[in-house]
Amino acid sequence: MASLGLVSSAASSSVLRAPEAAGLTVRQADLRTSIRPTVAEIDLGALCRNLARVRAIVGPKVAIYGVVKADAYGHGAVAVAGVLAPLVDALAVSLVEEGLELRGAGLTCPILVLGAYYGHTHSEVLEECLTPVIYDIGELQRFGSAPRRRRPKRGQSETTGELQQRWPVHVKIDTGMNRLGIQPGALPAFLELVARYPHLELTGVCTHFASADLQRATATREQIARFQRCLQAAAARGMVPQVVHAANSAAAVRFPEARYRAIRPGLALYGAMPSAVVARPELEPVLALRTKIMALHEVAAGQGVSYGGLWRPARKARVATLPIGYADGYPRHIRGAEVLIRGRRAPVVGAVCMDMMMVDVSRVPGASLGDLVTLIGRDDRAAITVDQIAHWADTASYEILCGISKRVPRIYLTSEADSRP
Ligand SMILES: Cc1ncc(COP(=O)(O)O)c(C=O)c1O
Repeated sequence: MASLGLVSSAASSSVLRAPEAAGLTVRQADLRTSIRPTVAEIDLGALCRNLARVRAIVGPKVAIYGVVKADAYGHGAVAVAGVLAPLVDALAVSLVEEGLELRGAGLTCPILVLGAYYGHTHSEVLEECLTPVIYDIGELQRFGSAPRRRRPKRGQSETTGELQQRWPVHVKIDTGMNRLGIQPGALPAFLELVARYPHLELTGVCTHFASADLQRATATREQIARFQRCLQAAAARGMVPQVVHAANSAAAVRFPEARYRAIRPGLALYGAMPSAVVARPELEPVLALRTKIMALHEVAAGQGVSYGGLWRPARKARVATLPIGYADGYPRHIRGAEVLIRGRRAPVVGAVCMDMMMVDVSRVPGASLGDLVTLIGRDDRAAITVDQIAHWADTASYEILCGISKRVPRIYLTSEADSRP
């Protein structure tokens, strides 16, 4: 794959040499990386390759709505959306605020708002050309009666400016998730009402799956069947939507019949899948979490390490302190975790603190101050995936990725596919 032509920054590459060693180019640096060496590296090349892989799985006729909600699952929404926008058919966010952030950054592509409007953002959504997914009749009425300002063309005033004629909206049907969406039985009333608002154009119909990654496929098949009946009911009333979408990452790879006209993958684009049932080994992790050793000390046998002295070595140990903690999103309740130093695994020992954590480097020959530490990602031939961290922390990879906090600078890189070991 061709390089994205991103700009290299000497400042950040001098902070972390690992990306260069792995054939990566640093695109964007953050001054904070020259103070504390804890960073999340985001490989935009891997993001593009994951998108290409998802596209290869579902075929060229299925549109892709790239899900960039929750700050693109912690990867940085503006940067990720900027790369995805020309390559996908639309982006999808959860919050209106997230859509506005992308519009504010200059993105003009279609953006679907999957979440809620809380009674007071209907005009803003339409004016910013965000496509709302409407999930109840009340919201439809509010969109239908929301005041719309005119968009003045050059030389026109607000009062004589052009008023957009038709605003695309989608409807979400709750087929079994019991979260958001109109009940299938309410669809006829919804269709009748939407027809009374000539400035709203119902272009999309969608649903969301609750269990597409679980071993038992029954629940998803039932949801698909229910959704299918809704589409038939809509067709019987003369409503044939331009776009029908239902599948998240798991459903997109596992249930071809649920791909319809578009899919909404999130996690797969970031190189992970929600469960082993739908694992796709060809996906590449996009995010790596790295820091450097900030202190080293010898701990005598039986001495406690960290709050509560929960870990006490059986024999003298060499312990390294790392400048990353739960305030950065590394899970405090993690058990049995490891990090990578000099291509070797070092166990996390004692309680993870707010800003620091300790690792036992007794089995890492030559471990020194300033050594690069990989908490998520590859180091030489060893790797720790976000799934592995999620397993150690007894949670889902979604939570780990979204939980990497704002104080961890994101550094954007791009890698060539063939530079990977
Ligand atoms: C409505 C909706 N669609 C799509 C997605 C993307 O799901 P995934 O990240 O599993 O692909 C999500 C994520 O939670 C969602 O809430």
